[in-house]
Amino acid sequence: MIYLDNAATTWPKPPCVVEAVLRFMNDVGANPGRAGHRQAVEAGRIVYGAREAVAELFNAPDPLRVTFGPNVTEALNLALYGLLRPGDHVATSSMEHNAVMRPLRALERQDVELTVVPCSPEGLLDPRDLERALRPNTRMVVLNHASNVVGALLPVGQAGRMARERGALLLVDTAQSAGAYPIDMQKDAIDLLAFTGHKSLYGPMGSGGLIVGERVNVRDLDPLVRGGTGSRSEWEEQPLFLPDRCESGTPNVPALAGLRAGVRWVLEQGVTCIREHEMLLTRRLIDGLSNIPGVTIYGPRDPMLQTATVSFNIGGMGPSEAGLRLDDEHEVMCRVGLHCSPAAHRTIGTFPGGTLRFGLSALNTMEEVDAALHAVNSLAREAR
Ligand SMILES: Cc1ncc(COP(=O)(O)O)c(C=O)c1O
Repeated sequence: MIYLDNAATTWPKPPCVVEAVLRFMNDVGANPGRAGHRQAVEAGRIVYGAREAVAELFNAPDPLRVTFGPNVTEALNLALYGLLRPGDHVATSSMEHNAVMRPLRALERQDVELTVVPCSPEGLLDPRDLERALRPNTRMVVLNHASNVVGALLPVGQAGRMARERGALLLVDTAQSAGAYPIDMQKDAIDLLAFTGHKSLYGPMGSGGLIVGERVNVRDLDPLVRGGTGSRSEWEEQPLFLPDRCESGTPNVPALAGLRAGVRWVLEQGVTCIREHEMLLTRRLIDGLSNIPGVTIYGPRDPMLQTATVSFNIGGMGPSEAGLRLDDEHEVMCRVGLHCSPAAHRTIGTFPGGTLRFGLSALNTMEEVDAALHAVNSLAREAR
């Protein structure tokens, strides 16, 4: 069995992640911040440990500015709905996932102005095009760091500096890059960093969050949900301090226990080592696919310019059929279709049919890449 659907969620997880979830469920189990007994204190420690690990990974200004939620989708909604007001302008790219596009289209109907800056057919964004899109009322630039369709890396550092010069905020969707590519909130001038725990941070599903940088005034950030935080119970108004402002209700502590272990594992491996390993696998995958007659590869086709996600099609065979046959006949699992990113597929010219997508993780091997290439080769031969 070869699992190449890591851009959707990574599997398997490092054993330490599974152990951390089990340890919480078996030995701790209490509600953090809701009581002062030892098990509640231990649960609080686990959650704070997850904040510290995430803050260390991204060089966030303070672990208390790491707010947790169920996934990156909610984190992006929090940043967009929490900060944008009618009359504000937002610039984004044509490679965004619907987790960004759908809230932005909905906000457009509430008089938020939106510019979608076109990327190249490889999925790359020219920073000069972004600069031209900025206006005096631009409140936010929103970019995914890496495309979930073709892995293309967008120039977040340059975008951050441009946004700062104009008094705008940079919100980055790191769903596809967190843990797989070095990210430094300070150096890259990221004001709002949205992350999901279950991809290359190797945590469980149900973990993610938003890191709120110091240029964001917490008073301006409207929470999506209000309620009990375990803190300042005497107040009937939502706290104005982080992380409580954005974290109402009992958190998913089993998932956060796993996330802490996943991020610690990433830090132990070293993001640069993970990146090097994934670049080698990506190089092999791209070279191998390029040598198969009838296969078309999309995106930068260069491991330096992308993450370990590669989209392609097999001539004469639709992506759905190819994906089913890869699973049924070769035990290769991948994702086909539009990957919740119609804008990205329009940009690369594969809308509405979509593509086959192989997404590699730190735990994939060269042997697995070779076996997957062998499987694609045999389908392509048949389709010719
Ligand atoms: C770039 C990007 N943004 C957002 C998401 C949404 O992630 P989640 O479902 O964890 O919220 C994904 C997941 O596929 C993604 O790849």
